[in-house]
Amino acid sequence: MAFLEFNQVSFSYPQEGRFALRDIQLGFSRDGITAITGANGSGKTTLTKLMIGVLRSTRGTVCLEGRSLEEYSLGEIGRRIGYVFQNPDLQFFCSTVAEEISFGFVNQGCRPETVEEKIQYYLDYFELGNYRHVFPLHLSHGEKRRLAIASVLATEPSFLILDEPTTGLDAYRKRLLADLLIKIAGAGTGISLVSHDQAFVNRLAERVITLEKGRVVWDSGEGRKHG
Ligand SMILES: Nc1ncnc2c1ncn2[C@@H]1O[C@H](COP(=O)(O)OP(=O)(O)O)[C@@H](O)[C@H]1O
Ligand SMILES: [Mg+2]
Repeated sequence: MAFLEFNQVSFSYPQEGRFALRDIQLGFSRDGITAITGANGSGKTTLTKLMIGVLRSTRGTVCLEGRSLEEYSLGEIGRRIGYVFQNPDLQFFCSTVAEEISFGFVNQGCRPETVEEKIQYYLDYFELGNYRHVFPLHLSHGEKRRLAIASVLATEPSFLILDEPTTGLDAYRKRLLADLLIKIAGAGTGISLVSHDQAFVNRLAERVITLEKGRVVWDSGEGRKHG
C-alpha cells in the first residue's frame, strides 16, 4: 500500500467547466524523491493540494495510509505531511523568523531544552542567523523561500511536498537545498517535489512524473533510489 494513493482522481475548480486534473492514478511511497514536472498550468500545484486535502477530488478518491483523505482533519494531515507553498508569503504567520521556524515543532511538543538548538541549526543551515528577530514578510524573496523551507523541515514531517522550492535561489543555495533534501530522504522521509528546474530535478529525483494538461503523460516509476 502506498503512503498516498490517487484512485482515478479528477478535479475541476468550482465554476470551471473543464478538469484541471483528469483520471489520475498514482501512488507515492514514504521513501525516495519524486519530481512532478510539466508546463505552467499543467496541474502540478493542484495535484499537491489534493495530496494534502486542501482541495477535494471531484471524482475518485485520494487515500492516505489506506484511508480516504475525507476521513482526516486538515490538522491530522498536517501532522503527517509537510507542505512548502509555491508562494512563501502565504505560509508565514509569526512575528519573527525564529518563531516561524519553531512554531511547528514547539506545537508538536518538542522538548523545551532542544528548542533553541533546533532553531539555531535551521538558522545556520539556511543562513538566516542575521534575521532571527526580523518580521518574516520583511525578508527578501530568496530569504523568504529559505525560511519557508526551514520552517516546514523543522517539523521533521514523514512526508514532504515542496512546490517550486528553487524559485529565487541562486546556484549555490540550490545545491545546499539539494544536499539537504537528499539527506532527509536518506533518513526516511518521502519527498514530492514540484519543479520545472530541470537541473535540480536531475540532481535529485529518483522518479519523475510529468503532467500535461491535467493528465499524467510520463511516470518513470518507483524503484530507483539514491545509493
Ligand atoms: N483557483 C483556481 N481557480 C480556477 N482555476 C484554477 C485555479 N488555480 C489553478 N487553476 C487552473 O487549473 C489549471 C492547473 O493549474 P496549476 O495546478 O496551478 O498548474 P501548475 O502548478 O502546473 O502551473 C490551470 O489551467 C489553471 O489556470
Ligand atoms: Mg504551480
